[in-house]
Amino acid sequence: MDVVDSLLDAPVLWVCDSSEISDQSLLERYRQLLDPVELARLERFRFASDRHLFLVSHALLRCVLGRSLDREPESLVFERGVHGKPLLSDPAPSSVPLSFNLSHSGGQAVVAVRAGAAAIGVDIESHHPGRRFAALAERYFSSEEVRALRAVHAEARSERFYDLWTLKEAYLKARGTGLQLPLGDFGFSFQGDTVLFSAKAGLDPAPWRWRFWCARLAGTFSVSVALESGPVVFEPQLMRMIPLRESVAISAGSRIGYSR
Ligand SMILES: CC(C)(COP(=O)(O)OP(=O)(O)OC[C@H]1O[C@@H](n2cnc3c(N)ncnc32)[C@H](O)[C@@H]1OP(=O)(O)O)[C@@H](O)C(=O)NCCC(=O)NCCS
Repeated sequence: MDVVDSLLDAPVLWVCDSSEISDQSLLERYRQLLDPVELARLERFRFASDRHLFLVSHALLRCVLGRSLDREPESLVFERGVHGKPLLSDPAPSSVPLSFNLSHSGGQAVVAVRAGAAAIGVDIESHHPGRRFAALAERYFSSEEVRALRAVHAEARSERFYDLWTLKEAYLKARGTGLQLPLGDFGFSFQGDTVLFSAKAGLDPAPWRWRFWCARLAGTFSVSVALESGPVVFEPQLMRMIPLRESVAISAGSRIGYSR
């Protein structure tokens, strides 16, 4: 079976913990995968930890797409959509196009990939329990989300904040609009483990087409995926990859919710 064919059923979420990679020769090989634009961006980071995560994230992205399309990772050419969403500029040598999205936070990188032209967005956020998340929610969340968050038991509130944040970001990233869409004009709620999405009239031409999945990884990260159309219930296949070294299937972490 072609690698792309195996993506037809469900998206695949490739995860990499950059703190596991310190081998300098491997990191040098990652550099050799990047194009001049990525290398210039890499050099602009002030902090070594940010530089490291960027390098690993982009090596991961190239290795995942290369593997999915049966191409050399360094041969892939990227361009950006109108609002900056990265896309592959050279058509895949396959009848099935590929959608993908990258996110990184707190040392973790994730790449979500699916077959077909329909959009995908992913967001991962590291939990910072000390963060002033109530103020952030007041500023960025819809009034319904703020109300629902206040009703969550105090001990669970910061994790729920990150679940909501990653769902909002995953949707924005699937749309590819960046912050053009006002964050308070759409929102998420949970009924048990069902994720419900609502959007102000006119914000989304077909809000019913979206599917969502939200989980926690390693106990300290929230991660969400947004899919444009597709199966009503989906469970991404989770893979852990050390680019150019190894990849293994991992368990789905603790799932928080999904649309159905
Ligand atoms: C840039 C943005 C798309 C995502 O930013 P982010 O959550 O900080 O970063 P992530 O790590 O999840 O995603 C970054 C990756 O998304 C991709 N990306 C960039 N622009 C994108 C866009 N318009 N659409 C989708 N993906 C995009 C890139 O691959 C980027 O990686 P790179 O910078 O290494 O090339 C944008 O939505 C943003 O600035 N968000 C922050 C908004 C905020 O403050 N939200 C408050 C809480 S709700």
